[in-house]
Amino acid sequence: MNLDRVFENNEGWIKDKLTLNPNYFEELGEGQNPELLFIGCSDSRVTAEELMGLGPGEVFVHRNIANMVIGTDLNVMSVVEYAVVHLKVNHVVVCGHFACGGVKAAMQSADLGILNPWLRNIRDVYRIHKTELNAIDCEEKKYDRLVELNVQEQCVNLIKTAAVQKAFRDRGLKVHGWVFDIHTGKLIDLKIDFDAILKNIMEIYHLD
Ligand code: CO
Repeated sequence: MNLDRVFENNEGWIKDKLTLNPNYFEELGEGQNPELLFIGCSDSRVTAEELMGLGPGEVFVHRNIANMVIGTDLNVMSVVEYAVVHLKVNHVVVCGHFACGGVKAAMQSADLGILNPWLRNIRDVYRIHKTELNAIDCEEKKYDRLVELNVQEQCVNLIKTAAVQKAFRDRGLKVHGWVFDIHTGKLIDLKIDFDAILKNIMEIYHLD
């Protein structure tokens, strides 16, 4: 890829934005007030704002391999704290995607060096849901289901944080689990029953 193209694209994008609103960048410079925190995969095909049809200023984004919410990862924890406590977003989304390379790698026996401890968190999801997953004969379906269950468990990890628990109680913050179907482009709401999950985990994880 010739990176000159990127800078040419940028010039075109500036022109497009100014045609619609001459004050576009002045307004953008005034600050942000996003309503949504999106935690997605770093995969180049999962384009956060683009697939949701949202623009600059509308969504706070964090992406890592396999959209993980790991309690000891200072990066994702700082993003959650900042978005929930300071920006006061009303929705937090964990968005996985079918054909996720990170999830696939966690289903195989391979030493991947520094990726091992990261992928181990997905293996933990497999272990928690081993009975359900092992009952699925079709490898492709098992893979898709692990993508969904991984999203669910990362949502549970969000609920374990004090910031999310406080925002739930004080202003009804909502957590959502979605999957992007890379084969069709469709965004699927897993409609995870958070009330049930919350009741189940709060006995142990209640902080505030
Ligand atoms: Co992925």
